[in-house]
Amino acid sequence: MQPRLPFRFPGIAADVERLRVKLTEALSLAGFVADSPAAVLNLACGRADETGTLFAALSPAQVGFYLGIDLLPGDIAEATKRWKPETPDTRIEFRAGDASRTERMRELPPFDLVFIRHQNYWHDAPVWDRLLENALAALKPGGVLAITSYFDREHALALTALKLRGAELLVNFRHAESRILDDAPNKSVDRHLAVLRRR
Ligand SMILES: C[S@@+](CC[C@H](N)C(=O)[O-])C[C@H]1O[C@@H](n2cnc3c(N)ncnc32)[C@H](O)[C@@H]1O
Repeated sequence: MQPRLPFRFPGIAADVERLRVKLTEALSLAGFVADSPAAVLNLACGRADETGTLFAALSPAQVGFYLGIDLLPGDIAEATKRWKPETPDTRIEFRAGDASRTERMRELPPFDLVFIRHQNYWHDAPVWDRLLENALAALKPGGVLAITSYFDREHALALTALKLRGAELLVNFRHAESRILDDAPNKSVDRHLAVLRRR
């Protein structure tokens, strides 16, 4: 799926292409094959630059429903302009709201893939404990949760929180080619990628 609006910064297209390669590899190693049509939930998605990446990584399955949620209305508005369905069988929705409260969104289907790019556990552990618990609860049987992290400590914290909530770690990569962030020592784009399922 092609973006309808150019990405905001140079380098993003290459970042999301690297993510596509790694995520495809990780899902395959996890033995995950999405149902078609698949339902995908992208939590704390920001501008959701990786939307096309997620659709590609699930191929040949088609995405029937894709929902991105973030607190920032400006990012959600930008994502809505950038990503439009390419077939009438796909529904794409972005919502401004609290992604840690998905248990209150009663009309949601069970999801094949829940994705969290650059999870933010470090920022507010209690909120992210709830967000991760709900992320696992949102999976359909056989569904997987994939997370990426900017830095080592935050990745370890999120994995511990997930394991405490009954998650099983299927795949865990340190991404050797991830782009270093010059203004943030020891952080890089999609530095870690993990795939988990509910026990
Ligand atoms: C590190 S950024 C990652 C954004 C995006 N996933 C990416 O990789 O570009 C963390 C994001 O989490 C969002 N966020 C934090 N807490 C949230 C919550 N409770 N509900 C929804 N979004 C949240 C922030 O607004 C921010 O966009």
